[in-house]
Amino acid sequence: MSDQIDNVLHENRSFPPSAEFQQNAHISSREQYQRMYRESVEHPEVFWDRVARDLPWIEPYEQVLDWSDAPRARWFTGGKLNASAVCLDQHVANGKGDKVAIRWEGEPGDRRDLTYRELLTEVSRFANVLKARGVRKGDRVAIYLPMIPELAMAVLACARIGAIHSVVFGGFSARALRDRIEDGQCTAVITADGGWRRGKVLPLKREVDEALEHCPDVHTSLVIARTENDVAWQNPRDVWYHEAVREVADTCEPEPMDSEDLLFLLYTSGSTGKPKGIMHSTAGYMVGTYLTTRFVFDLQPDDVYWCTADVGWITGHSYIVYGPLANGVTQVMYEGAPNAPAEDRFWDICERHGVTVFYTAPTAIRAFMKWGDEHPQKHDLSKLRLLGTVGEPINPEAWMWYRRMIGGERCPIVDTWWQTETGGIMLTPLPGVTATKPGSACMPFFGVDAAILDSAGKELGADQGGLLAIRKPWPSMLRGIWGDEQRFRDTYWSKWPDRMMYFPGDGARRDPDGYFWILGRVDDVINVSGHRLSTMEVESALVSHPKVVEAAVVGRPDDLTGEAIVAFVIPAGGVTENQSVTNELMEHVATEIGKLARPAEIRLTDALPKTRSGKIMRRLLRDIAAGRERDQDLTTIENPAILDQLRGNA
Ligand code: WTA
Repeated sequence: MSDQIDNVLHENRSFPPSAEFQQNAHISSREQYQRMYRESVEHPEVFWDRVARDLPWIEPYEQVLDWSDAPRARWFTGGKLNASAVCLDQHVANGKGDKVAIRWEGEPGDRRDLTYRELLTEVSRFANVLKARGVRKGDRVAIYLPMIPELAMAVLACARIGAIHSVVFGGFSARALRDRIEDGQCTAVITADGGWRRGKVLPLKREVDEALEHCPDVHTSLVIARTENDVAWQNPRDVWYHEAVREVADTCEPEPMDSEDLLFLLYTSGSTGKPKGIMHSTAGYMVGTYLTTRFVFDLQPDDVYWCTADVGWITGHSYIVYGPLANGVTQVMYEGAPNAPAEDRFWDICERHGVTVFYTAPTAIRAFMKWGDEHPQKHDLSKLRLLGTVGEPINPEAWMWYRRMIGGERCPIVDTWWQTETGGIMLTPLPGVTATKPGSACMPFFGVDAAILDSAGKELGADQGGLLAIRKPWPSMLRGIWGDEQRFRDTYWSKWPDRMMYFPGDGARRDPDGYFWILGRVDDVINVSGHRLSTMEVESALVSHPKVVEAAVVGRPDDLTGEAIVAFVIPAGGVTENQSVTNELMEHVATEIGKLARPAEIRLTDALPKTRSGKIMRRLLRDIAAGRERDQDLTTIENPAILDQLRGNA
């Protein structure tokens, strides 16, 4: 069996940075990138030592990297620092205390600005509240909050006292929350009465109450008043934050944390039903997120940065909380939905706050395209100078739309590939250097030794699709799966048994210019008549057709061809019994890619089943396509009503 993934979508457009952008960029020439990259992979100790010196160490480290106990990496051994002090204290000490750290906007339109000094005070008070409730270094604290400033404060307050935070996205159900609290053996929870989402209150505390019925080890549920809806109350477990905070001091010494002390757990799904508690430690994570934020987003002193992710996901941990604050940037934080009260909310925010760097997800970009050009066109987006995407492969059409409609054809786009497990960005353009290509995550970041291998570990040549591999350790890499060392080794470090290399689970190819193209998860690869095809490529072809809004492609077993392609398509203008549209789309795919990629079946639908983070639930679609009924965990589905239509029972 070969690992070659047939790869047939070719994209030849290329967009170098403007001379103006390049001139002011941190890294501005190919030679500079290559020199630094070479040093970072050939002499990682030298490279990372120089970077780490930028951080405010409490005690210096002895050794940059100890890989002797692989796959357990130890970075900056013997050093001590505190992540909240990296994000806050150092800026106040350096005279930047009056700079705005967070410009927050609630969905109803309420606002709050916090300077670095104010944020330091708030975090210190929050830390003192946790201490007063008996939370100690090493304890696990679950955080289940809307996107309010207290979410960033809660995370940093845990870091300040050395408690390990486990943020659970506010869209998860009580059941999912309970599983994560139990798995991490959390002893305290931080939540809110509710949060605003499309004009309605998400009753978060109610979910917490339900989850905690089964979690007797949780001694404290700290509740932030946000929406002022009625909540049930259980003494002495439940505590209003605004009452507790009156009793505490304004300062709190940051706990000196060992470099390898855990900073947080973050749960993510794997190929089994049980979520994995990904472990990240303090120093390596801070060094990695500090440097990637600085170089990938090319941060300049006057930037207004906005990452639209939720802190409940890794993107929010690394590129809302730790990376941007470690760099002392001013950032926008927004509570609500992109279409509340109207479809132009994001562009309205960009205009009013003068956002210069904007980082979002392809699924959002496709929604913006669907909603129509008139929404961004209503707003002055001329302050934007750099755009980013993350989370899934971006189809070239969405990329081009993003560049034209949002970036005014002047902003570089950084398509950043990484994972919960990698902690920080791994493949990316450098905006002042890279001539970007629509749909490519471009080049490895510093210190990332990426390659395309087959399952025997052989490196593949240009344009051969294979498995993405990371051949050397990097500072922000995961340190394990909480409570499951074996799964950690099996999932990530056993693909090529005779070599200690990281397997991310993604397929990719490298083009003749050395650019990486992510082909999607290897479990989303379809094999039709011996040809392996990336579902993403077929989807990309489909959505390039004007009659298609969104498409998801899966394989189903086929007696003749092994697997056959089934496409679920949201047609522009809604679902009608229109055979000619499906025929037209099949032909379109055949023309765009080749007959081998022509879907065997196209099902028109009004929506696709998605998780609350916006990822299409492909496993579910595969079952539907194959006509299988199977007990599946549907707790994470955003729109369960769509299932009947997809199954053809509507
Ligand atoms: C996918 C999100 C293509 C990939 C930071 C990866 C991407 C998984 C990209 C991790 C990208 C993320 N291009 N695919 N730029 N970014 N992915 O853990 O399959 O939520 O393995 O981390 O998303 O998802 P996670």
